[in-house]
Amino acid sequence: MPRKPLARIFRGTPRNLSFLAARLRAGELVAVPTETVYGLAADALNARACRKIFSAKGRPTTDPLIVHIARLADLAGIAVPNAAAFTLAEAFWPGPLTIILPKNPAVPDLVSAGLPSVAVRMPAHPLFRRLLRLAARPLAAPSANLFGYISPTTAAHVKAGLGRKIRHILDGGPAGIGLESTIIDLRDPAHPRLLRPGSITRAALSKALGRPVSSPRRRRAATTSAQVSPGQLARHYSPRTPLVLHRRLTLAKVAGGAADEAWLFIAKPAGRPAKNVFWLDTRGDLRGAGRRLFAQLRRLDGAGYCRIHAETASGDGPAEAINDRLRRAAAR
Ligand code: TXA
Ligand code: MG
Repeated sequence: MPRKPLARIFRGTPRNLSFLAARLRAGELVAVPTETVYGLAADALNARACRKIFSAKGRPTTDPLIVHIARLADLAGIAVPNAAAFTLAEAFWPGPLTIILPKNPAVPDLVSAGLPSVAVRMPAHPLFRRLLRLAARPLAAPSANLFGYISPTTAAHVKAGLGRKIRHILDGGPAGIGLESTIIDLRDPAHPRLLRPGSITRAALSKALGRPVSSPRRRRAATTSAQVSPGQLARHYSPRTPLVLHRRLTLAKVAGGAADEAWLFIAKPAGRPAKNVFWLDTRGDLRGAGRRLFAQLRRLDGAGYCRIHAETASGDGPAEAINDRLRRAAAR
């Protein structure tokens, strides 16, 4: 069998955007930049197009997709919004927040993995927004990685994983946030529940809603049952290299380790760190650390180390999202 051609990376010129919008309308897949991570997009109202997302990623159809919209006026075509959803949309859209609401029957069951609810987000990335408007339909898009691997934050990451499974990648530069959107369940607006921590923190959501938002339940065992709690697979975002987490790393710990192990600090350690020492943000700023986490994990995963030691972030707020991704990446 001849090998499939490699995907082409498109710059966001007006001509390319019109071309890619036409591909989406024709039911094809396009990988798109977002402010969080790159997504693999298809027409959300076309079940055949969405099926291609699952096969390209190797994603089980029990794991539902997020539907992306360009304008608030499009929300009611996807979901059954409530006042709490409008409050959060007003405060955080366009941006890295996904809201779970009762599903509008127009959305194919495949998109929601048969659930009566649907995940909706209005992204902030200017190129993705232009593409959404040109395509003139909602776009379903999970992260553009092979199922279970680290989410992509550059067009090159998408090409490395899905290069022979898709044909079109829109390049919007490195993702500004670098961690997937915060997911909040607003099916019952009196009891908002955080399903996935992200750069919009639980505290910010509680403040906007004027009521507490309950924490995600931590799951031990991996599950693929959509009915239990989608998006909460314990093992996810995983490098192939074994990953070990530490509450605090020190250069003394590094000195006690082997040379073929990598050490990933949150902040640059003082002194002259060895070649196998890495960090996420020079000053330990957690927004910067979140932005670089996935790219660093990929780099270290490809560098031939036998083990990666990573330091977890301390505090709450942005630390919650970083630690959530680290824990899932380390789960075996
Ligand atoms: O930042 C993001 O959210 C990125 C970009 C591309 O927008 N997308 C993303 O998609 O991270 P994905 O598929 O990798 O993660 C979406 C999560 C899944 O874990 C899925 O289980 C959950 O959202 N989800 C989707 N629909 C749901 C629903 N109806 N109820 C509960 N969880 C849902
Ligand atoms: Mg994903």
